[in-house]
Amino acid sequence: MSTVISGVRLYGGGEPVDVLVADGQIAEIGTGLAGDEVIDCAGRVLLPGFVDLHTHLREPGREYAEDIETGSAAAALGGYTAVFAMANTDPVADSPVVTDHVWHRGQQVGLVDVHPVGAVTVGLKGKQLTEMGLMAAGVGKVRMFSDDGVCVDDPLIMRRALEYATGVGVLIAQHAEEPRLTVGAVAHEGPNAARLGLAGWPRAAEESIVARDALLARDAGARVHICHASTAGTVELVRWAKEQGVSITAEVTPHHLLLDDTRLTSYDGRNRVNPPLREADDAIALRQALADGVIDCVATDHAPHAAHEKMCEFANARPGMLGLQTALSVVVETMVRPGLIGWRDVARVMSEAPARIVGLPDQGRPLAVGEPANLVVVDPDAEWTVDGGALASRSDNTPYESMTLPATVTLTMLRGRVTARDGKSAPAGRSAATGGSAQ
Ligand code: DOR
Ligand code: ZN
Repeated sequence: MSTVISGVRLYGGGEPVDVLVADGQIAEIGTGLAGDEVIDCAGRVLLPGFVDLHTHLREPGREYAEDIETGSAAAALGGYTAVFAMANTDPVADSPVVTDHVWHRGQQVGLVDVHPVGAVTVGLKGKQLTEMGLMAAGVGKVRMFSDDGVCVDDPLIMRRALEYATGVGVLIAQHAEEPRLTVGAVAHEGPNAARLGLAGWPRAAEESIVARDALLARDAGARVHICHASTAGTVELVRWAKEQGVSITAEVTPHHLLLDDTRLTSYDGRNRVNPPLREADDAIALRQALADGVIDCVATDHAPHAAHEKMCEFANARPGMLGLQTALSVVVETMVRPGLIGWRDVARVMSEAPARIVGLPDQGRPLAVGEPANLVVVDPDAEWTVDGGALASRSDNTPYESMTLPATVTLTMLRGRVTARDGKSAPAGRSAATGGSAQ
């Protein structure tokens, strides 16, 4: 079975070309190519499939909000070919039993490679390191460890984690939040939260941990990755650390690029997220940092929650928002439309950089003959109106409800197999036949 993606512009530039996909690879790039199926992609942009370093798929334990099948469908529809499923499941992904299950289940569903993230500490309790080596050696081949949802706040535990991870050759990703500064906090600490009577979460809660972890990584000769950077100060600290030669990387979420705490006046629980939506100046600094490369990549922090967990008093709403199906559009809205980056850079921040950070060999690859056909086709001129109920996730907690956003994903391919096309995901469970998943 071969497929021609016809009339597409590679990275959005140059003349339109045809891309022949066969045996899971890009077999030929040219014009007038023939294949078993030809998909007309005139006017569209071809990019390497997106890689999300920060996804919550809720399986095992909270399948009423999302599971690996529904989350994989959302990922494929969002243009993703690999996602990293966070460890704050129930049970916690702190042993190979859980991490191997997540990898296996993702492969059974077959719509996106679901890479398990292992917990740094047993039960996410911050006290005792997990057996990272065993999880890294399992079939789930864990490459990244994080207690996301909570911070590894004990500096000695974090130091030991960085040292251990360096020996195993894996990455520690930190949810930077000094918990003593966020007791009871539900919103960014500033004039808006004060006016609304919401307990505030200061920027320093994040920035103090970013600064500390940069220093710990420096001294351990370790790599550290900062999850969901949300403040202008974090940008300055990451910039400083990189200038010092520290091996630090950072991600930003689409919602921290687009939204700010002025939205909180509605007390709508859909706007509650950790770290909280900050101020407009923070969003501007994050956009500039993503364009400059100080922030390396976009990661969704896709965090499904059921209606009863979100449609309640703001302070009781669970933190988190959907992100997989809206990420590209928000990046186009905040970065491409204002001219901060072009399509070439969309590939950098959504595919190449995340694949490099975790060392995925088969993702974020060049659009070239012989490369794996992990691909996404985007219609740059389309617009769509977000309807949470119509998203593939089991939950509908999107902060973009009823917003009209630019750009749609029209085709996603995982190793040459179509996983999503024209807004519909492929049926789950057919990947076993295609085999050959690359880890
Ligand atoms: O808003 C968030 N939701 N932030 C996190 O760190 C965790 C996540 C979740 O698991 O729902
Ligand atoms: Zn987090």
